[in-house]
Amino acid sequence: MNPKYAVVLAAGQGTRMKSKLYKVLHPVAGKPMVGHVVDQAEEAKMDRIVTVVGVGAEKVQEYLGERSEYVIQEEQLGTAHAVMQAKEQLADKQGTTLVICGDTPLLTADTLNQLAMHHEMNKAKATVLTAYAQDPTGYGRVIRGESGAVEKIVEQKDASTEEAAVKEINTGTYCFDNEALFATLEKVGNENAQGEYYLPDVIEILKNEGGIVSAYQLENKEEALGVNDRVALAEANRVMRARINHAHMKNGVSIIDPVATYIERDVQIGADTVIEPNVYLKGKTLIGEDCFIGAHSVIRDSRIANGVSITSSTIEESTIANGSDIGPNSHLRPGSDLKEDVHIGNYVEIKKASIGKNTKIGHLTYVGDAELGENINVGCGTVFVNYDGKDKHKAIVKDNSFIGCNTNLIAPVTVEENTYIAAGSTITDNVPSKALAIARARQVNKEDYFKNMPHK
Ligand code: UD1
Ligand code: CA
Repeated sequence: MNPKYAVVLAAGQGTRMKSKLYKVLHPVAGKPMVGHVVDQAEEAKMDRIVTVVGVGAEKVQEYLGERSEYVIQEEQLGTAHAVMQAKEQLADKQGTTLVICGDTPLLTADTLNQLAMHHEMNKAKATVLTAYAQDPTGYGRVIRGESGAVEKIVEQKDASTEEAAVKEINTGTYCFDNEALFATLEKVGNENAQGEYYLPDVIEILKNEGGIVSAYQLENKEEALGVNDRVALAEANRVMRARINHAHMKNGVSIIDPVATYIERDVQIGADTVIEPNVYLKGKTLIGEDCFIGAHSVIRDSRIANGVSITSSTIEESTIANGSDIGPNSHLRPGSDLKEDVHIGNYVEIKKASIGKNTKIGHLTYVGDAELGENINVGCGTVFVNYDGKDKHKAIVKDNSFIGCNTNLIAPVTVEENTYIAAGSTITDNVPSKALAIARARQVNKEDYFKNMPHK
């Protein structure tokens, strides 16, 4: 088979974004745009992926890592000049080259494959991916001759009134005969409104030289969206969100309001899980079957098993086993590890702690740097005092203990199994198995104190 190369254009600064963040790193559904593009190129089984990077290159390279080769475009002199930077890597190679812009995050691998197939069937030197746009503003227009064959592409800024009225646009994705591409790039000039070397000019040059040039029109024109500013970025997010949510619903997940549910691309969710509005599921989160994720919950990089209920809570880098429930308004910070049937109620914060099966922490409690066993009841207002101002210390509480309300456990400390701690205790020493620990001042009642009160 003909080898296939992808050149990803990602060197433009993205002036129209008005951002300190490099354009192609702006996230769509939580993933940098260029990440989506490279995902699709990989899925379309390219033999090589070469990304053209410029200012801020380190960040793009850092993000994509080994998934791509890189060439640097020192100055952003236009899209043709950008492709030209890959000359050393590709120019003498026989094969098909797809050029993809790093700012078209909605493009799919299916489309790339269809474009390549169309290109090969037509034995074309160049095939451009086009789309009909209700509002073509900002895109290059595809100019066809009387026979309907593609003649050239004209940029908005160079278009005559007649050309500007054309609604067929260049999506910025192309398929080229690799050797023809690099031979033609040398001939592209920059006498145009923007003084740039335009890649689409390759089409006209090839055609004038008698090569077959072709166009493949997108069925799903949403894929054409090129993100140049924040308005388009929001639109790309909207479309990507709809796609992701649609796929989950088809897989058996109930999403109450798909317009207001924000699930990132790599999240996995099991069937019969119900998700209420304004939920954010981020990063590499994995959610099992039969879960309930209530309104306003935010879950990032966590593993949640089956039958778990989460109400208006925030979960980060944590694991939750079957049948546990959390919230409303609790916060699992990184390193929380909840075993089966744990109950975490209102206003509880947990950090770097394992909580054993069937343990209950119902209200207003902080648990940090701790190991809790099974069947423990942690009373309201308990604080695991883990920090002495300099170092963090660990507390261990073993099975079947009952910790009274408003207890302070000053770590390092161990509470053995089957113990009781009286409410209001400040525990500084280990508690032996089966003991009751009371650590608070005795109550004193001053008789007849009332008569001494100044206002009497
Ligand atoms: C480009 C096309 C336009 C098409 C549109 C589709 C040209 C001249 N115009 O316009 O016909 O309708 O895409 O979205 O190609 N880049 C570089 N180096 C440069 C310039 C750009 O790497 O010197 C990269 C950018 O990072 C970006 C891509 O190429 O990812 C496209 O550049 P951009 O400036 O966004 O082109 P458009 O004006 O959108
Ligand atoms: Ca663009």
